Amino acid sequence: MVMPLSVVVLAAGQGTRMKSDLPKVLHEIGGAPMLSHVIRAAQALEALDITVVYGHGGEQVQSALSDHKISWVEQTEQLGTGHAVDQAMPKVPDNHTTLLLYGDVPLITTDTLGKLVAAAGENALALLTAVVDNPTGYGRIVRDSAGKVQCIVEQKDASEEQLIINEVNTGMLAVRSNELRGWINRLENNNAQGEFYLTDIVGFAVEDGISINTTHPVSTVETEGVNNKLQLAELERAYQLRLANEYMDNGLTLRDPNRFDVRGNLTFGKDVTIDVNVIIEGSVSLGDRVNVGPNVILKNITIGNETNIHPNCVLEKSTIGAACEIGPFARIRPDTQLADHVKLGNFVEIKKSTVLEGSKVSHLSYIGDTTMGSQVNIGAGTITCNYDGANKHKTVIGDNVFIGSSSQLIAPVTVGDGATIGAGSTITRNVPSDELTLTRSRQVTKEGWKRPEKKK
Ligand code: UD1
Ligand code: CA
Repeated sequence: MVMPLSVVVLAAGQGTRMKSDLPKVLHEIGGAPMLSHVIRAAQALEALDITVVYGHGGEQVQSALSDHKISWVEQTEQLGTGHAVDQAMPKVPDNHTTLLLYGDVPLITTDTLGKLVAAAGENALALLTAVVDNPTGYGRIVRDSAGKVQCIVEQKDASEEQLIINEVNTGMLAVRSNELRGWINRLENNNAQGEFYLTDIVGFAVEDGISINTTHPVSTVETEGVNNKLQLAELERAYQLRLANEYMDNGLTLRDPNRFDVRGNLTFGKDVTIDVNVIIEGSVSLGDRVNVGPNVILKNITIGNETNIHPNCVLEKSTIGAACEIGPFARIRPDTQLADHVKLGNFVEIKKSTVLEGSKVSHLSYIGDTTMGSQVNIGAGTITCNYDGANKHKTVIGDNVFIGSSSQLIAPVTVGDGATIGAGSTITRNVPSDELTLTRSRQVTKEGWKRPEKKK
C-alpha cells in the first residue's frame, strides 16, 4: 500500500547573503522562482497537500506562487529547521508520509524524491544523503561499524573525527507524519547554535528502533542550495544544461548548449536548429525545420514550419506562419499575425498587425495597427503613422499593393487592392484600387545656381 503524501517546504530563511530585497526563494532559475521549481517537483509526486513555511516577505512569496494550491504557515522567528517543521505539523495528517523539502534547493527532481518516499515505506525514516568532496558546512551522517545511521551531527557540533566524514545531510527526508510529530515535540536547542535542529530526530529514531534508510540524488546539483548570487548562477547554468540535454535527446540541434537559455517552455518539431545566444521566454512553439539564428529573443511565440529567423531579432507574443523570412534585426511586437511566406527584413518593426500570405516588408519600416493583404510589397522606409499623439488609428492595405520607398501612411487610411503608391508619398486620404497615387512635389533644377562660399 502506498501511503498518502504530504509535502512540507521550508522557505523561511532570510537569505541575507543574496543582498537583495526580494525574498530568497523568489530569486529565479529558468525564469521561475526557485520555490516554484520545488513545488512542481512535489506536485508531480501527486502530493495531497503542500505546506510552505515562510518567514520574510510572506505576502510577496504568496502572491508570486498564487497559481499553485498551497497551504501557508508563518515562522515568525527563525529558531532552526526543527522549529520551522514544527510550524507546519498541524497541517499534516498522522497517517500520511511527510516529505520535507527546501525552497532554496531548486533542482531536486521528481525521480529522486520518488525514490526517497519509497525508501520511507510505511515505517522507516528515509534520508537523502550525498557523498561530496568537500563536506564543510553540512551536517555529517554518522554511521556505526555496521554502517547503520546513528545520528546527524552539525558542522559546529562535530568532533575532529566526525568532520572527516564526507557523507552529508541534504536536509530532505521522508517519514510517517505521526513519528515526525512525536520527534519534533522532543527537540531541544542545547547545541552550538542554540537552534532547534531538525537533524536531532535521527537520534530519536534510533532510540525508538525505527529503521533509517538512505538514498542519494542522481546528480549532486539536485541537492545544492542557493545562499548567494554565485550559487544562483551556477544552478541556473546546471538547469539550462539539463533542459538542453533533454531537448537534444528529443532531436533539437543546439549549436552550443552552453549558450542557450530557456526561461519558460519550448516545444519544437523535427530538424529544428537553434544558434548561439538564443533566449526562449514564456511559451514558445517551433514547427518542423525552423532555423533560429544567433542572438534572438523569442517570447510567447508560435513559429510555423520552415521559417527562418535570421540573427538579432526580438519577437514577442505573436504568431508566425510557415516559410517566413524574418530579420536580421527585425522586431515583432505583441499581437502580430504573419501568414505563410511573409518576409520582414532588416530594421523592420511591426506591432499589432496582420500580414497575409507572400507579403514583404524588406527594409527599415514601421508597421503598426495594420491589416495587410497578400502579395504586398512595402518599400524601404515606409511608415504607418498610427498615432496622432492621443489615439491609435488603423491602416488597411489591400492585396497586391505596391508602396514606394519612404512613404508615410497617415492612419486611419485604406489602400485599395492593386494600388501603387509612388515613392516618397505622404498618404492622408484613402487610396483607390489599381491606380497610381503619389503626393510627390515636382522636381526642379535652378540652372546656373552657385553654392555660397565662405567669406575670406
Ligand atoms: C541544514 C541541516 C544540515 C544540512 C544542511 C543542508 C539542520 C539543523 N541542519 O543546515 O544538516 O547539511 O541544512 O543544506 O537542519 N530554515 C527555515 N527556518 C529556520 C531555519 C532554516 O525555514 O528557522 C530553512 C532555510 O530557509 C533553509 C533550510 O531551512 O532553506 C536550511 O537552513 P540553513 O540555515 O541553511 O541550515 P544549515 O545550517 O545549512
Ligand atoms: Ca544551508
